[in-house]
Amino acid sequence: MSAAIDAIWPEPARDLTDQQLLAAYRPPPSPWLRMNFISSLDGAATRDGRSGGLGDPADRRVFELLRRWADVVLLGAGTARVEGYGAMRLADDAVAWRRAHGLRPQPAFALVTRRLDLDPASAIFAEAPVRPIVYTAASAPETRRKVLGEVADIVDAGRTAVDPWAVRRDLENRGHARIHAEGGPTLFGAFLAAGAVDELCLTLAPTVEAGSAPRIAHDPEALPTPMRLAAILASGDELLLRYARSA
Ligand SMILES: NC(=O)c1ccc[n+]([C@@H]2O[C@H](COP(=O)([O-])OP(=O)(O)OC[C@H]3O[C@@H](n4cnc5c(N)ncnc54)[C@H](OP(=O)(O)O)[C@@H]3O)[C@@H](O)[C@H]2O)c1
Repeated sequence: MSAAIDAIWPEPARDLTDQQLLAAYRPPPSPWLRMNFISSLDGAATRDGRSGGLGDPADRRVFELLRRWADVVLLGAGTARVEGYGAMRLADDAVAWRRAHGLRPQPAFALVTRRLDLDPASAIFAEAPVRPIVYTAASAPETRRKVLGEVADIVDAGRTAVDPWAVRRDLENRGHARIHAEGGPTLFGAFLAAGAVDELCLTLAPTVEAGSAPRIAHDPEALPTPMRLAAILASGDELLLRYARSA
């Protein structure tokens, strides 16, 4: 399958280079939180329990390029566990590109978890180029807090759940204004409910999955969030959409 990507709107262009894609996805200089997801046409966020089954090389290409702009990659613990995340370490060409654009060589990695049920020996922590940050609630188990505190900065960002704005404030205080979130649906739902999402990058995979897969956002408290179309890219039958939150 080809990873060629065309711009459809607002400026049509064929077969975008990585540099053109990076320019298209450049976030504003102000604090900005971007969520990146893939969904089937009927709203499934997974196939066989993971997002990877929905993606193709074009989605993977954009997924990787989006990390280049990130001061920090933010992730819910459920996605870290299910998708088998390792260390947040970008490849050498990405590091060179980041240096040339005045960014730190590697983005920070921040995880959100109420229970702190993450393995301190996993590559996420053991091979991290930058000490990860773990946002949790004051109610988190003390034993887990101690264990993970050996390998990460543990930050209380709420009483019984993590408050998205407490996360944003803390990240911004650390100099991480460009927050790039890779899900999952519970994290997205919580951030939507708090009005803490600025942008959604959504790959629309050309498949109707049916079945009972979750959708990309879930939170009983969230109200509808109107979004404004910012860009349309395409790769074959797949659309790569960018939406900003309406003011
Ligand atoms: N289609 C896509 O692009 C995409 C992207 C990402 C993930 N996914 C899929 O989504 C599924 C996982 O869904 P998920 O909803 O479990 O993912 P998730 O949002 O990454 O993880 C949920 C977990 O994150 C923590 N969490 C999230 N928000 C929190 C808050 N406000 N306060 C405290 N803790 C919070 C909790 O961790 P603890 O349980 O540790 O307390 C919670 O159980 C997987 O199948 C994955 O493949 C799909």
